[in-house]
Amino acid sequence: MPKHPKGALLQNLGIERGTSVPIYRQIDASLRRLILEGNLRPGQKLPSTRELADELGVSRITVKTVYEQLAIEGFVRSKTGAGTFVAEGLDVKALPDFQRPRRQPRLADTVISGRARKIMPSKAAVRLDRIDPFRPGVPALELFPVKLWNKYLLDAAISCDRQNMSYGEIKGQSSLRQSIARHLINTRGMQVDPEQIIITAGAQQAFVLTALVLLNPTDTVWYENPGHIAGREVLEVLGANVMPVPIDDEGMDINYAIAKHTKPALIFTTPSHQQPLGTTMSLSRRLMLLNYARESGAWIVEDDYDSEFRYRGQPLPALSALDSERSVFYVGTFSKSMFAAIRIGYVVVPPAFVEAFALAQNLLGQSSSSVVEKALSMLMDDGKFSDHIRKMRRVYRERRNVLHDCLVTECADSLEPQPTDAGMHMLAWLKNNVDDQTAHRALLDVGIECLPLSVYCTEPLARSGIVLGFSGVNERHMPKLVRRMSETLRTL
Ligand SMILES: Cc1ncc(COP(=O)(O)O)c(C=O)c1O
Repeated sequence: MPKHPKGALLQNLGIERGTSVPIYRQIDASLRRLILEGNLRPGQKLPSTRELADELGVSRITVKTVYEQLAIEGFVRSKTGAGTFVAEGLDVKALPDFQRPRRQPRLADTVISGRARKIMPSKAAVRLDRIDPFRPGVPALELFPVKLWNKYLLDAAISCDRQNMSYGEIKGQSSLRQSIARHLINTRGMQVDPEQIIITAGAQQAFVLTALVLLNPTDTVWYENPGHIAGREVLEVLGANVMPVPIDDEGMDINYAIAKHTKPALIFTTPSHQQPLGTTMSLSRRLMLLNYARESGAWIVEDDYDSEFRYRGQPLPALSALDSERSVFYVGTFSKSMFAAIRIGYVVVPPAFVEAFALAQNLLGQSSSSVVEKALSMLMDDGKFSDHIRKMRRVYRERRNVLHDCLVTECADSLEPQPTDAGMHMLAWLKNNVDDQTAHRALLDVGIECLPLSVYCTEPLARSGIVLGFSGVNERHMPKLVRRMSETLRTL
């Protein structure tokens, strides 16, 4: 068996400190590259986790996590008592090109527009990368009824004839708009005419559409701080002057905003389950917000992204259900209740705005597929969508409970979890003045993908914390993962 080439390997790993790419990802990518390029040959022994960790000056858990991931994907094989070896029989030439790491060319600032320059520092791109445990907002994909969904997709495709091979309705399939209207009446207390619904490619496109139709450049927007990252960024890119509004026990602090900021054209809020703090907006705050919008002529965007998942009592009706003045634009998504790749969301607009939204959506390219829309509407009408939500609610409640208990028992010296009655993530406050970006990077290095609370902020908060998605993590794996989290945080 060839001996491992420790010195040469270390020279070729090319780990850079102080970059935005976590060490864990760098080691992982470098080892893959060395294997794919044939510099590490099948059967070759890798350094032990202790040796590599000592040489690189990282924790042993970091290296262990990388080796485990490479083993799961078949790049290496661990033999008990003998060590870790590059897998035998790997025909690297047969691997598709996208498996090979590439250097991305960088665009010179001079050749891109001012708007693109605002886009380049976006923090929201985290959504596109690979998923590690505890990333916020990820559903239990392993429990999604894929076969059932494929059956509906197939039925929808088969029923598609030449009549409906054109662009179809610009607001989206009427059958889906009807299914959504029924769902909103039954679950959110909203009396909605299907004609008021515009289907979009996810909630994010609904925010773009709303900004295009409602805002002029430099208009003021009141936005929750902390708040949803991608929503804030797209409003800024489209020229809005986005003002941070703090959150108190009752939700968005409207009195603070009235005292500090200029009158808004639009107010963006997540009343059911504040993103990311988890607060539910109180009834009195909802009424105050609606009254203020009526008096000042501001529009409200209600982002109701994960309201299906409530674990205590009945969900409060949507803010939109209390809106007699029709100033609320209600945004829903299937990214959480189904899965993000479905790319279907919607916005419910006051009747006077239907035409403008539909025409704007046409210009954006009507980007969801009518076949997928049809499949979703059949799934909803057969009651299977509600069945799935009911099941996921039970699963997520259990995952929330297990994560909370694990954090209390394993991380008492480093974290204070904030109890939550809804949603798919939990906030944990960091103890001992640990900076949340430092904690985030250290945890990423050991394969744990929480988000730092500060990434959701434009104004700093008094405390630092991390946001942990529990919905996508099997509860059986949580004790081990939380122990790893605790060991890592203890070193900071
Ligand atoms: C607060 C909030 N709103 C909306 C969305 C959904 O976006 P989309 O429907 O575009 O996937 C997310 C997704 O992460 C979110 O966190």
